[in-house]
Amino acid sequence: MRIHEYGGLEVLKFEEAPCPRPQAGEVLIRVRAAGVNPVDWKVRKGDAKNLLKHSLPLIPGWDVSGIVVATGREVQRLKVGDEVYSLLDIYRNGAYAEYAVMRESAVALKPSSIDDIHSAAIPMAALTAWQSLFHAGGLQAGQKVLIHGAAGGVGSFAVQLARWKGAYVIGTASGENRHFLSELGADEIIDYRRTSFETVVHGADVVLDTIGGDTLLRSWGVLGVNGILVSIADQPSPEEALKRDVRQAFVFTMPMATELAEIAALVDAGRLRPVVDTVVPLAEARRAQMLSQSGHTHGKIVLQVD
Ligand SMILES: NC(=O)c1ccc[n+]([C@@H]2O[C@H](COP(=O)([O-])OP(=O)(O)OC[C@H]3O[C@@H](n4cnc5c(N)ncnc54)[C@H](OP(=O)(O)O)[C@@H]3O)[C@@H](O)[C@H]2O)c1
Repeated sequence: MRIHEYGGLEVLKFEEAPCPRPQAGEVLIRVRAAGVNPVDWKVRKGDAKNLLKHSLPLIPGWDVSGIVVATGREVQRLKVGDEVYSLLDIYRNGAYAEYAVMRESAVALKPSSIDDIHSAAIPMAALTAWQSLFHAGGLQAGQKVLIHGAAGGVGSFAVQLARWKGAYVIGTASGENRHFLSELGADEIIDYRRTSFETVVHGADVVLDTIGGDTLLRSWGVLGVNGILVSIADQPSPEEALKRDVRQAFVFTMPMATELAEIAALVDAGRLRPVVDTVVPLAEARRAQMLSQSGHTHGKIVLQVD
């Protein structure tokens, strides 16, 4: 599935493309499933063209689960036949395809207890939650965290990871997701359509903002002393953080095999579960992106490739 130009859903073309070859340090993955993320359709629309500078035609979609079918020179850890998952390099071709290549350092063995559809739902969303809460946010047991968009792809992992860490977890979502979020382990759920979160949350140690805009701006006031506002949607203002004597960070998620391996271990131990909302065949990637664009996904959308 490729795009030759930026634009609407119609620019996604189902066609033959050359099979990539693994270079030194890279593995060739036969794709069984590809996870869908909002960045896929943002790239298709051209919203990220100045930042990512892709060359066209481009295969979108950077979440993959599949099997290693060839290895380049200097690949040491992985071998043909390994069942793997990865967040591919967002500057290159993605996983809406039968084959994809990635450097070994960002490819991990997939969780053995789940199928490829569920593994493909993990990499970008779970790595984003992990890097935002633990690296940028420094979240510790006993701290209070507010997670915006808690029912979405990133949010559904963030709630579970924060709970696993031993934090007190507050999530915002629309009312129909209340039961879903309490199942994932949220201690408090705020229906953002009925309640302004800043009127009920105080003294948060970490806020994870997956929404941006007004939600980000209203989040400053809920932070406690030395709290941190971590956004993956908009850059928080360093001046505002300074003025309020709190901290801020913007996270741009990085592919990491070591973290994917830790996440796989949590999944296999039953501590973390990917929530798949909808599975769509690769040929219907337009429908998958249309669903993702609705902005109200409950967990993840996955393309079945194999
Ligand atoms: N910087 C990075 O590296 C990075 C990495 C990954 C994702 N992102 C970005 O982060 C954003 C979220 O990604 P995602 O994969 O989690 O998206 P997603 O799966 O589409 O989830 C969106 C969620 O937002 C909720 N929502 C919408 N408006 C809301 C509001 N005002 N308050 C609270 N919740 C609201 C929706 O829940 P309801 O149905 O309950 O409304 C939905 O569950 C996207 O913009 C994506 O591009 C950035």
